[in-house]
Amino acid sequence: MSELSGTARHNISFTLNGETVSGSAEPRMLLTDFLNYELGLTGNHVGCEHGVCGACTLLIDDNPERGCLTFAVQVDGRDVKTVESLAGREGDLNDLQLAFRKHHALQCGYCTPGVLMSLTAYLEHTPEPNEEELRDMLSGHICRCTGYVGMVKAALDVVEQRKAKA
Ligand code: FES
Ligand code: FES
Repeated sequence: MSELSGTARHNISFTLNGETVSGSAEPRMLLTDFLNYELGLTGNHVGCEHGVCGACTLLIDDNPERGCLTFAVQVDGRDVKTVESLAGREGDLNDLQLAFRKHHALQCGYCTPGVLMSLTAYLEHTPEPNEEELRDMLSGHICRCTGYVGMVKAALDVVEQRKAKA
């Protein structure tokens, strides 16, 4: 029998948005559920719960992952970042968040945390993407409101801002 089988809760500890958090989770508890129901976070959204919509995207060890396809016990000892990690301590928005606001890249905002986290990781590895590459990356997210136009403009704006600062 697997060590993680059954419903017994397992102690886990990981870094969440720069702080160490601990708790216990049943083996099949989803990371999204652990964040939302055990830790009380509100930023990580759940849409399809099947890995399709991208709403639950967060960073695990700085790689974008679907929180709805990850068990909480899998992040034991790892680094997790949600959309709450993007703003500063005083709540000041980062450059990507400001660009989303400026270019009307969100309407209902349901998809937005996941999109922001994917873009955060993507721009880290691909600092100067073109529009086609951005659209390709955004195809991993379902947004029913915006048509993606504002998201692409926002990302391109951030690319230009970061280039100007480099
Ligand atoms: S809720 Fe995870 S991909 Fe849709
Ligand atoms: S802003 Fe509403 S789903 Fe994307």
